[in-house]
Amino acid sequence: MTAPVKHPDATVVNVALGERAYDIVIGRNVLASLGERIAAVRPGARAAVITDRNVARHWLQPTEATLAGAGIATSRIIVEEGEGSKTYAGLEQVSEALVAARIERNDLVIALGGGVVGDLAGFAAAILRRGVDFVQVPTTLLAQVDSSVGGKTGINSPQGKNLIGAFHQPLLVIADTAVLDTLPPRQFRAGYAEVAKYGVLGDEAFFGWLEANHAGVFKGGEAREHAIATSCRAKAAIVARDERETGERALLNLGHTFGHALEAATGFSDRLFHGEGVAIGMVLAAEFSAALGMISQAAAARVERHLAEVGLPTHLQDIAGFGQEGLADADALMTLMAQDKKVRRGRLTFILLEAIGRAVIARDVEPARVHDFLQAKLAVQF
Ligand SMILES: NC(=O)c1ccc[n+]([C@@H]2O[C@H](COP(=O)([O-])OP(=O)(O)OC[C@H]3O[C@@H](n4cnc5c(N)ncnc54)[C@H](O)[C@@H]3O)[C@@H](O)[C@H]2O)c1
Ligand SMILES: [Zn+2]
Repeated sequence: MTAPVKHPDATVVNVALGERAYDIVIGRNVLASLGERIAAVRPGARAAVITDRNVARHWLQPTEATLAGAGIATSRIIVEEGEGSKTYAGLEQVSEALVAARIERNDLVIALGGGVVGDLAGFAAAILRRGVDFVQVPTTLLAQVDSSVGGKTGINSPQGKNLIGAFHQPLLVIADTAVLDTLPPRQFRAGYAEVAKYGVLGDEAFFGWLEANHAGVFKGGEAREHAIATSCRAKAAIVARDERETGERALLNLGHTFGHALEAATGFSDRLFHGEGVAIGMVLAAEFSAALGMISQAAAARVERHLAEVGLPTHLQDIAGFGQEGLADADALMTLMAQDKKVRRGRLTFILLEAIGRAVIARDVEPARVHDFLQAKLAVQF
């Protein structure tokens, strides 16, 4: 190994996975250190930067500049923005371009983008020549606190989201908080739901800190860095204990069983971003926990209040076009939840709360109770 690169302003979170361990480097302008850091761990390697058109417009040039500055030869692969690229067609485009760029076993794939690019590029790296290392440069808040960490990669099947994929841990994650300045505000807010999730599921003190400091997180600066680092530490700790989601990692799905059903009911469209579905799902999970007597109504109301305060949707009725299609129908939502990966033999697995900061995996939730709960929620008039 060459001497470690020193960057005093960066926060480094290690994901402790033995020989697959890696660092998440978090801070303003840490992107400028990408080339140096890669050259330090992979002298002589070439790199292919995979990104989408939106991200390319803002961040491809500085990315290529830091790589060139460190003497790294690069090629670029640009896909269309959006979930439509996380498909067999998108994978074919990227894989063929990687082969054409002569990326070999000791070279690197760099994923510069949000969760779509990270999942697609990571999966392409996992299967190119039976596995090439890759570096994540997440450019959305969701990607910085969630999708770039933990090694889940993949594409969607026409039959469902994320059904085709592989575990492939990155070599390094560079989360530059300044990159988020060009993110549309609604995208940033949706990612914030995943930040709040770490507080709700495992860290009440962090949730309290967010209640007091959310404005600073949205503005940028130190509060944003602290929120991202705390979220990454939480995810890294869980992933290190349960890399393949045989147990505890499922806690990260808090709000997601309800949320995925809502995303499916709205056709995975711009009517509801993933994080927005998670926000509503988290409130439903808290309220369902209260209905089961596991937490107080006041605790559930506290979760709802904070998410609403930052401008996230928190009720089913907040979704654009609520009342159309299957959204306002408990039976239709139950059917969508039953199609979720987390279903085993007719019983639904939910992540529920014993307190704010203490989530538990409930593997045996009776569908009828969920149905009655949803029916009551759908009947509320605002
Ligand atoms: N692998 C995992 O563990 C994991 C976890 C959560 C979600 N995901 C996946 O992540 C995907 C969602 O990721 P996402 O929310 O980041 O969406 P995304 O990648 O589609 O990005 C959202 C939008 O923001 C644009 N964008 C990205 N960075 C930008 C920037 N800095 N400035 C301006 N525009 C920018 C993109 O072009 C896109 O239009 C889903 O496919 C989901 O399944 C994966
Ligand atoms: Zn999520």
